[in-house]
Amino acid sequence: MYEIAVVSFQDSNGDGQGDLVGLLQRIDYLTWLGVGAVWLTPIYKSPNHDFGYDIADFCSVDPRFGNLEDFDKLLRALHDSGIRIILDLVPNHSSDQHAWFDESRGSRNNPKSDWYLWAEAGANGGPPNNWLSRFGGSAWEWCEERRQFYYHSFLPSQPDLNWRNPEVREAIASVMRFWLERGVDGFRVDASAVLIKDDLLRDNPPDPEADDKTPPPQACTPVFTDDRPEAMRCIEYIREVLDQYDGKLLCGEVQGKTDRIGHFYGNSRPRLHLPLNFALLDTEWNAIALQAAIDAYFNALPQEAWPDFVIGGHDKHRVASKVGQAQARVLAMLLMTIRGTPFLFAGDEIGSEQVPIPSDRVQDPFEKLLKGFDLGRDPERAPLRWDDTDGGGFTDGAPRLPLSRDRARNIKAQQGDGKSLLNLYRELIALRRLEPCLLQGEYLPRRAQNDVFSFGRRTNETEILVGLNMSGEPRLWEWEGCGVRLLSSGLDSGPEKVTGPTHLKPNEGVIVKVNR
Ligand code: NOJ
Repeated sequence: MYEIAVVSFQDSNGDGQGDLVGLLQRIDYLTWLGVGAVWLTPIYKSPNHDFGYDIADFCSVDPRFGNLEDFDKLLRALHDSGIRIILDLVPNHSSDQHAWFDESRGSRNNPKSDWYLWAEAGANGGPPNNWLSRFGGSAWEWCEERRQFYYHSFLPSQPDLNWRNPEVREAIASVMRFWLERGVDGFRVDASAVLIKDDLLRDNPPDPEADDKTPPPQACTPVFTDDRPEAMRCIEYIREVLDQYDGKLLCGEVQGKTDRIGHFYGNSRPRLHLPLNFALLDTEWNAIALQAAIDAYFNALPQEAWPDFVIGGHDKHRVASKVGQAQARVLAMLLMTIRGTPFLFAGDEIGSEQVPIPSDRVQDPFEKLLKGFDLGRDPERAPLRWDDTDGGGFTDGAPRLPLSRDRARNIKAQQGDGKSLLNLYRELIALRRLEPCLLQGEYLPRRAQNDVFSFGRRTNETEILVGLNMSGEPRLWEWEGCGVRLLSSGLDSGPEKVTGPTHLKPNEGVIVKVNR
């Protein structure tokens, strides 16, 4: 699954912003790489206060991206190339410029008066309780017309919808049907854990671990706003709507720690197919921490649940900046060989790093409203570098955010370099298709030692071992037996017979098909 922020992918009309026609022009690249599916961040009509996650019309395409006809063309072309497409579904909130909110805010007794979360002022005339917006300050905003507050988990211009209202649920179901009828293959559900908030409006307790380094919005433990049992019923409802169509996928952004993730799959009633798992981004990058993070994740999954691993996204700092370029290759090998659906964000395949954004070009509200906490998301959202020119092959105009100054790190250059990270991804994706064991095989944990993280995959027919040297020095990889080395992360040798234990070069990962 390849996440694309359309606005940063490919501009076709010189306005400095990516668009659907631009994306259409790059399908050959996706096919070359071997992408199985793309997920597009919101493309809908939006005043764009939060990267399009503030939607003014859920059944439209924002003019800066094109129109519905462009979307239909794109969808057909992707499908013709064997690539599936899922869209971001943002059921928790709309823009304050959505017609629904316009009506709702008008009076206390209009037909949509109960479509958002309205509440009376607290005893002192202030907000009804202490709930905080993720972007800072109270999550309640005063509305003079109704003389009431409305709730916004995010920006004041992103009012939360009232999921207790059956009409709201049906309205979002219609949005889903609108896109499913057009042929989309599923959705990534935004903020799925916060769809319902406590109806008693109880105050969130202060987080005892918060200190002066904690961003103010995280000063409280969100017991009464996040991950409520009632929110799970909403996810089940969304899944029921989806299941009226064949072969569709529901992924979802979930909050909380790894041990809560299993819960988002559902049990008697299914919820998400793939609650997004950020364990590889959250862990410290060493063999001991990694084996624990991965085990904790697998342990948290219900039986039969299909895993997934995410290494990048529009809200996450670029992983190559964290682990470094040498280990980015090790990560690629891990991602493509571990059991579960791999998710990467466009640019991860060339090792894109955080792009420094001058303060006068900041766009992300997180950075504007909560300075000093390293929360800004523009550095990972910078346009993709296709080549080393000024516009990076992304645009002929002035790009919406600066491109990386590391001009050499671009797709064209890496396509031409047989040993690049990009070619490593391509080889790994091809190998995954070739070896059913890498797709379906069970996961066999092994003990991490000598800075080598190692695991096996096994089906009735095949056993594959993966050894990943997580240090910058040569290391001995302890395993017994013999087999064929299918791939080394350095792409510097062909398949070769090997006998364990084997020596790994610094930062080297190796995949071995074991003789049985
Ligand atoms: C989650 C999205 O991933 C993030 O980018 C956005 O800011 C919030 N939801 C609000 O929609």
